[in-house]
Amino acid sequence: MSDYGKAREALQTEPKSWLVTGVAGFIGSNLLETLLKLGQDVVGMDNFATGHRHNLEKVRARVTGEQWGRFIFHESDIRDLGQCSKAAEGVDYVLHQAALGSVPRSINDPISTNETNSSGFLNMLVAARDAGVRRFIYAASSSTYGDHPGLPKQEDRIGRPLSPYAVTKYVNELYADVFARTYGLESIGLRYFNVFGPRQDPKGAYAAVIPRWIEELYRGRNCRINGDGETSRDFCFIDNTVQMNLLAATSNNPDAVNQVYNVAVGTRTTLNELYREIRSRLAVRDERVAAREPEYADFRPGDVRHSLADISKAENLLGYAPTHTLQQGLDETVDWFVSEFEAGD
Ligand SMILES: NC(=O)c1ccc[n+]([C@@H]2O[C@H](COP(=O)([O-])OP(=O)(O)OC[C@H]3O[C@@H](n4cnc5c(N)ncnc54)[C@H](O)[C@@H]3O)[C@@H](O)[C@H]2O)c1
Repeated sequence: MSDYGKAREALQTEPKSWLVTGVAGFIGSNLLETLLKLGQDVVGMDNFATGHRHNLEKVRARVTGEQWGRFIFHESDIRDLGQCSKAAEGVDYVLHQAALGSVPRSINDPISTNETNSSGFLNMLVAARDAGVRRFIYAASSSTYGDHPGLPKQEDRIGRPLSPYAVTKYVNELYADVFARTYGLESIGLRYFNVFGPRQDPKGAYAAVIPRWIEELYRGRNCRINGDGETSRDFCFIDNTVQMNLLAATSNNPDAVNQVYNVAVGTRTTLNELYREIRSRLAVRDERVAAREPEYADFRPGDVRHSLADISKAENLLGYAPTHTLQQGLDETVDWFVSEFEAGD
């Protein structure tokens, strides 16, 4: 059995309690769904800055009444230490996802990004420390590689940040490391590389590329590519990301804790290739999509040109084994969005 299979079995045998911050968001709501299906107790925290109540409703529809009964939701804000402490009381593991995502958002509004991503993060660390949680797992980011030219990205070689968002995510790693050394708070940082999947928000100025393009092509609109389309990313399906969170929380390997890990698949796809992958899946449903070409615009400031992860550290220390390639993830994601759009959501 895989390490992930063993971790899931152990959790089912001996359920734990979890705090998921950002639980109404894309990644948080997927963590919630998996944990509830494994019979875990979950406290969730969200202020709906970018997350949605309907994400929680969709999880509710996918679990049993008994599983849903194990979920307690706090509509609260990580910028308030008292609210963080209340939510962290008595939990075994924290999966800290709440943050203001998006590089362009942070360039437009660095102060809001810093308040949530840096000060809010520090509040969560203090709350987790004071509550005596077993381990603090947090969403770090591949943006921390900044201007380092090396490919594939290895955890111990980073460059200078290229955006305020990247600064905040690097600050998270520094604080977590200091809390481990100063207060003995165990933590693991997960440097996510372009996560995608069901419930990712397709709308708004800061939407991620995959859900946005799926919606635009579905509705017969043109997609915009920033730059020449040869910018590349290591796109990571949500199930791989959920796997990493659960492995990081439950690992018994002492060498694995107080570390940061790449969370990705280890393959690189250009935006032009990604566009064709999404278009071909939607063209099966509507043949007019097959001829639709993207529009090209300027490069976006703050964007890293190429991104590709070396995932061997996660494989070796945590037993990570991604279950989905980009193509497998896109099959599920496009199907999910199309059924949502058809249902009028
Ligand atoms: N999606 C990706 O590709 C990606 C890549 C790298 C890092 N990350 C990180 O992963 C985490 C989750 O991202 P996501 O894609 O699910 O984004 P998301 O916007 O869907 O989720 C973030 C959630 O945090 C909540 N939130 C924001 N500010 C808050 C506050 N002050 N108090 C309480 N809740 C607050 C939002 O309402 C939202 O529900 C974030 O930390 C993000 O920076 C994501």
